[in-house]
Amino acid sequence: MNYRGPKGTYDVYPGGREPHERPELWAWAESVARDHFRRYAYSEVRLPVFEEAQLFVRSVGEASDIVRKEMFVFHDKGGRELSLRPEGTAGVVRSYVEHSLYKVAQPVKMWYLGPMFRHERQQKGRYRQHVQIGAEVLGSDDPLVDVEIISLLYSIHQSLGVRDEVVYLNNLGDLETRRRYVPELRSYLEKHESELDPDSVSRIETNPLRTFDSKDRNTQALLAEAPVIGDYLSEEARAHFDSVKAGLEAAGVPYAVDERLVRGLDYYTLTVFEAKSAALGAQDTVGGGGRYNGLVSELGGPEAPGIGFGSGVERILLAANAPEEGAKLDVYFVTLTPEARLPAVSLAAALRAEGVACDLDYADRSAKGQFKQADRAGVRFAVIIGDEELAKGACKLRDMSSGEERFVPVADGPGELLRALKV
Ligand code: HAM
Repeated sequence: MNYRGPKGTYDVYPGGREPHERPELWAWAESVARDHFRRYAYSEVRLPVFEEAQLFVRSVGEASDIVRKEMFVFHDKGGRELSLRPEGTAGVVRSYVEHSLYKVAQPVKMWYLGPMFRHERQQKGRYRQHVQIGAEVLGSDDPLVDVEIISLLYSIHQSLGVRDEVVYLNNLGDLETRRRYVPELRSYLEKHESELDPDSVSRIETNPLRTFDSKDRNTQALLAEAPVIGDYLSEEARAHFDSVKAGLEAAGVPYAVDERLVRGLDYYTLTVFEAKSAALGAQDTVGGGGRYNGLVSELGGPEAPGIGFGSGVERILLAANAPEEGAKLDVYFVTLTPEARLPAVSLAAALRAEGVACDLDYADRSAKGQFKQADRAGVRFAVIIGDEELAKGACKLRDMSSGEERFVPVADGPGELLRALKV
């Protein structure tokens, strides 16, 4: 029996070919993101990868594609309906309410990194298990928090070398605005129903805003003439939008307003944004997010505003200029006789304790084979131990680039070897 990974998943493994299959790129992306969160003063949260399914229905929205088609829902032995998390915001808000974090000094700034699950059709940049780096700020409606969240997203992407990136920005108004706008949009779409693609027709009733995401040319042309939400904004929403724009300019984040930008999740109010990379194909959104001022109270908490982003690490790596892998090892031990193996183990332990990365042969290779391994690993030094070295209470240090060799005494401990390695 041969097994393969489940459809829509991928492995990260030694020698992985695609950028998102390479372990060293994940380590790099995570460390860059972590360092940004430190600089922006965000605390990490780690939350379950499954929650009550209703949490997502209430927050992401009944009419959203995610809830209608993409959730991995299952029942536990107690008959509870659970779902693998399709996104991170709902869990963070649930946790904020559950632990009464609205009682501490506001805002609360949090970040997370972990897998999300959506039953989508697989294609490049789209998986059934993907990993998001995300941040959420709860308890402030200051437009400069919107600016911070967008700057943070942009800055992480830039530090990771995301190519040809543009941040698109829009404002969806408050829920009241949407209540006024959606019937207008719906009646426009109904009037032109015969010219729309079938997917968009099916959305007129359930979620007309999503028609803006249609890739169909006729639909797009028609939507260019459709009423835009910007014309329905309240004065407050408009002022918020202006402050965000001024803040982004002050922070040096380039952006473009896209009045037709809507998002696939229902909880958004006011600011929404998406960062796209022209280096990607059809799945060109590297990250996105927005405000959700009604969500905390919707999930049983007080009236507390929120905003955040989620960014797909696979897409970041696909859109990035991935650095070439550097050497991972400092030292490779070459043992010329079986008696040299335990002394090599002992020296390796001493070097590793001092932070030196080293490895030895576990495949019974000849001396030639071991030197080849050392070459492959790109080490600076080989430490050679054979009969002669054992007799001398020494090892032989070979500088792999110059080929120079010298004996280093080790009978009194690894001190001299460590010094020699640090030159
Ligand atoms: P989202 O736009 O659904 O937003 O997802 C955020 C990012 O996750 C996307 O831009 C994309 O990079 C990545 N992503 C989503 N689905 C997939 C997939 N199937 N395969 C690969 N990558 C994917 C959210 O999830 C919101 N929670 C963001 C947010 C946080 N809004 C406020 N706070």
